[in-house]
Amino acid sequence: MRVVILGSGRGSNAEALCIAQQEGRLGRAQIVAIFSDRPEAGILALGPRFGIEARHLDAAPFKTKLEGEGEARYIAAVQASAPDLVVLAGFMRVVKPGFLHAFAGRVINLHPSLLPSFPGLDGIGQAFRHGVKITGCTVHEVTPEIDAGRILDQAAVRIEDHDTPDTLAARVHAAEHRLLVDVVARLSLAQAPV
Ligand code: GAR
Repeated sequence: MRVVILGSGRGSNAEALCIAQQEGRLGRAQIVAIFSDRPEAGILALGPRFGIEARHLDAAPFKTKLEGEGEARYIAAVQASAPDLVVLAGFMRVVKPGFLHAFAGRVINLHPSLLPSFPGLDGIGQAFRHGVKITGCTVHEVTPEIDAGRILDQAAVRIEDHDTPDTLAARVHAAEHRLLVDVVARLSLAQAPV
């Protein structure tokens, strides 16, 4: 199962996938390319480290969504990698129907809350400020409606009284790393992708 990863930031979840692949824990999944809309994103350093194509791909003209020329560039680059699965791992743009249509049923996203609670930006901060006692992370199919596609799996994280936004974020991220590796490995072993 050929996997393309899109990300905008640190890339700790993409790193977890690369390490799992290296250690033989990613089933039949093979990460074939990593693309980032931010040239300085840490996620791009994974390319040389793991011997995977990784490059900045301009997503202009829009700042918070992938549409127009940027969308066309992403569709062409991702199509050239012939993916069976596209993983949004911290890709901080709204992906529009054009891209989703090009990779129909093959795009999944990781979100740092137990959806349908706390969709959108800063899922961890939203949960912390709301005062819920259990939050977590979700992997779901991507549909045009934000963070609303079919849920593939979730992991729960308890919020302790002594937690700060930072200590909570660290545990949610650790849970994300395990969950994303599990889901991708499982999908790669299933009969049909997603
Ligand atoms: C992750 O926590 C992911 O859930 C979140 O961005 C972070 C990326 O971290 N994604 C979203 O909030 C999407 N709405 P990483 O770059 O270290 O993998």
